Amino acid sequence: MTNMFRLLATLFLLVPTIPSLAMEPTPAQKLVSQPGPLVIAHRGDSVHAPENTLPAFASAVKLKADLVELDYYHCKEGVPVVIHDNFLDRTTDAEAIFGKAKMLVEESPLADLQKLDAGSWFDPKFKGTRLPTLAESLTCIQAGSVTLIERKKGDAATCIKLLRELKLTGRVVVQSFDWKYVRDCHDLEPTLVLAALGSGKDPLSEARLAAAAETGASIVAWDHNKLTKDQIDAIHARGLKAWCYTLDDSARGKDLAAAGIDGIITNAPGRMLKAVRGK
Ligand code: G3P
Ligand code: CA
Repeated sequence: MTNMFRLLATLFLLVPTIPSLAMEPTPAQKLVSQPGPLVIAHRGDSVHAPENTLPAFASAVKLKADLVELDYYHCKEGVPVVIHDNFLDRTTDAEAIFGKAKMLVEESPLADLQKLDAGSWFDPKFKGTRLPTLAESLTCIQAGSVTLIERKKGDAATCIKLLRELKLTGRVVVQSFDWKYVRDCHDLEPTLVLAALGSGKDPLSEARLAAAAETGASIVAWDHNKLTKDQIDAIHARGLKAWCYTLDDSARGKDLAAAGIDGIITNAPGRMLKAVRGK
């Protein structure tokens, strides 16, 4: 037996005992890599229920949205609470309850936030709907879908700590317009699926795309009004996925699907699912 043959035979015998070097993709990684477009319920099924509340999330899950988006801020004690605006006025009765306008989420204790009605502004039948915490929202959504967490304000470590406690780091997607936050999330939890959000104000230039890729994000999510087929191709050429927000027009959804969009964030997930999936 030549030395070379002996070496090859030894390697062959060893192969089954060497642990696989490639990590198994997480459920969230598998979901975002599947052929699109994924349909993502913006603030829940927000055409039918008050945005960013448990009824809106439950409705989106029932519709079988691929992901359900939400927004969060930290309250005074640092607990992540789900709401889109930094002020409480638009989607709660805070002014009537506390006699004060323009109260900030981040200056409000959790107990005060939990007294508010976050449903009546949308429809009296939702009276008594509360502002959910991020933890409560994750429990509701993850029962049948995948959460797209948009951080409006707050540090990355708090979000990652919560996701670890709930064993969800491999089962959600996190996004932000603040790319430093996206980078911080990536550094703390490299397997977390991340989206770099961009507004229509910033053109989607090659330099901007390079900066998005450097955050560790695997998705670039952009204002659908500013997104062209060439830009979708440029995103793909960097090995990234292209998502768009916030798109409720089914015809435009079909056009962007034909142009290769990978995810559509929509207030009307039921309608968009029918348009792009025929179901
Ligand atoms: O998911 C992206 C989209 O939600 C960003 O805009 O203002 O609705 O949070 P906004
Ligand atoms: Ca959002």
